[in-house]
Amino acid sequence: MGYIQQAFDDNWIGPLGPHVEAFEAQLVDIVGLKRALALSSGTAAIHLALRTLGVERGDLVLASSFTFIGSVAALNYMGAEPWFVDSNDATWNMDPELLADAIAEATARGRKPKAAIIVDIVGQCADYTPILQICADAGIPIIEDAAEALGATYKGQPAGSFGKVSILSFNGNKILTTSTGGALLSDDDELVDQAFFLATQARDPAPHYEHSTTGYNYRMSSLLAAFGRAQLEALEERVNVRREIFARYEQALEGLPGIEFMPEADYGRSNRWLTALTIDPAEFGGSYQDVMQLLADNNIESRPVWKPMHMQPAFADAPHTGGAVSERLFANGICLPSGSALRPDQQDRVIELVLSLAPDG
Ligand SMILES: Cc1ncc(COP(=O)(O)O)c(C=O)c1O
Repeated sequence: MGYIQQAFDDNWIGPLGPHVEAFEAQLVDIVGLKRALALSSGTAAIHLALRTLGVERGDLVLASSFTFIGSVAALNYMGAEPWFVDSNDATWNMDPELLADAIAEATARGRKPKAAIIVDIVGQCADYTPILQICADAGIPIIEDAAEALGATYKGQPAGSFGKVSILSFNGNKILTTSTGGALLSDDDELVDQAFFLATQARDPAPHYEHSTTGYNYRMSSLLAAFGRAQLEALEERVNVRREIFARYEQALEGLPGIEFMPEADYGRSNRWLTALTIDPAEFGGSYQDVMQLLADNNIESRPVWKPMHMQPAFADAPHTGGAVSERLFANGICLPSGSALRPDQQDRVIELVLSLAPDG
């Protein structure tokens, strides 16, 4: 509460001021890129990332299919065209081989992708060694969507440090939340300056209000930045809590027929944002929907995993490479209650209910 009281006391409650700057400096420290811009949402950050990379109407952009719509909604705002790439089973993230296939196929059709949105899904980084190489060889800049992965690492390097532009989300359900909020990060000064210009209504330098183009009202408020500051200080602790929650579920439920927890790739450390698993109904004897229903009957909320973007009516005409993996994850996947405030006795109740549906339950 200290920082928020301070924001009121100092009368810094607009979209600028020391809290926003201090929050950005903390983000730079944690993620390791040179500049950060605190914004109103992760979706806004993706929109600005695409704009500053020069994506225009009709341009082709590669994107992970297994993700939340916020990763790619801006493509529709802009009239750009997504090409979705499937995940692999080992990481649930974009499959580098399929990415290479997609680039080859798009190029053969005479359409060089303008950018690639690579998502770090459910708190785990994508496999950046091959992905960076493939995109560098093809001259395609990467937007790293680390919205769900703050605090995770890949080969010791922080999530969010791999994009030409990276984005974070501080939406209500994230590991760090400012109720709503996001950030754009990059090593490229010019790009961040351009993002700042667009995020603050594209004000030209002039003594009056002058606009040679139109921008957006996308800046984060100082009050929300004050919220973020306090939480960033406790990020490592929050990651540890999420990982403990995951480990506890895994210990209790792993080995039940048909249950598979989201794998943690040996290249990194997931923040275990949510405890996600798949339930094969043929083996388990019940579907993930049966589990959700039983939990709901006991006033416990759980969620399905993301429905892949290549299956979404909003992107009905978009090409895609692969699809079977994310379709299977969607058919069987569930996220169990995993908030940092989940108490052990609450978690025990969830475990007990899931066990009651298991073959010998
Ligand atoms: C992977 C991913 N990308 C982008 C977003 C969009 O972020 P926001 O909700 O802050 O707009 C989210 C979540 O909300 C997300 O999970």
